Amino acid sequence: MSTFTDTDITNSEVVDVYQFIYISRITSTGLSGASTLNDIAETSIKNNTINNITGILCYGNGYFFQYVEGTEQALTNLKNQLLMDDRHKDLQMLEFSEIKTRRFENWSLRSIVLEQWLFKDPNLKALLPLKPYSWNAEDSKVFLDSLQHYYDSQVKVEEVDMQPIKYNALGITLSKVVGQHQAFFLIQTVLGTLIVLALLWFMLADKF
Ligand SMILES: Cc1cc2nc3c(=O)[nH]c(=O)nc-3n(C[C@H](O)[C@H](O)[C@H](O)COP(=O)(O)O)c2cc1C
Repeated sequence: MSTFTDTDITNSEVVDVYQFIYISRITSTGLSGASTLNDIAETSIKNNTINNITGILCYGNGYFFQYVEGTEQALTNLKNQLLMDDRHKDLQMLEFSEIKTRRFENWSLRSIVLEQWLFKDPNLKALLPLKPYSWNAEDSKVFLDSLQHYYDSQVKVEEVDMQPIKYNALGITLSKVVGQHQAFFLIQTVLGTLIVLALLWFMLADKF
């Protein structure tokens, strides 16, 4: 049964909206993929736009936390896809219920790698590094509210649906240690240094 009031129905949203929240663990398949997070983000943005799903996918410390909102049918279909996806495992549903309004209506799926340094919100920082299987219901709610707070601050300054920085499985591992942007620059620096060393070696090899 719809919980929309008359005011809600005059809004562009005329169908019931549901939320689906779950946590899961990345698998070795997910970690070994060339660009797992990026692949998921690209597919999700494409599909979710078509299916009018919005939400956020968080990755950190080997865990996923995803919050999505859309019609009951669209979310049920997505849940079935997720259960068959071998890039993650141990999917634990935290919530599947009707809601009145969307939290992330401009994001067909924002993917973020959770790093303490990224966030000013002390509530969010307190729940990092991500260990969602040990959370209670209140922790999940605080976490989600903090993400929405982050969303509200980001939509003011950013374009919607920005792609995450591309980085591979090594980048995922490094990003756990040093953060998303630092990981990207670290990889660039290491590769650059290797190229310079190789050039030097070729130049000097025939002199000795
Ligand atoms: C952690 C995680 C989150 C995902 N989130 C979404 C999503 O929000 N939307 C989506 O369409 N696919 C998502 N996927 C991918 C689906 O499991 C599945 O691969 C995809 O829907 C298949 O789409 P395709 O038939 O267009 O290739 C996610 C996968 C993982 C591992």
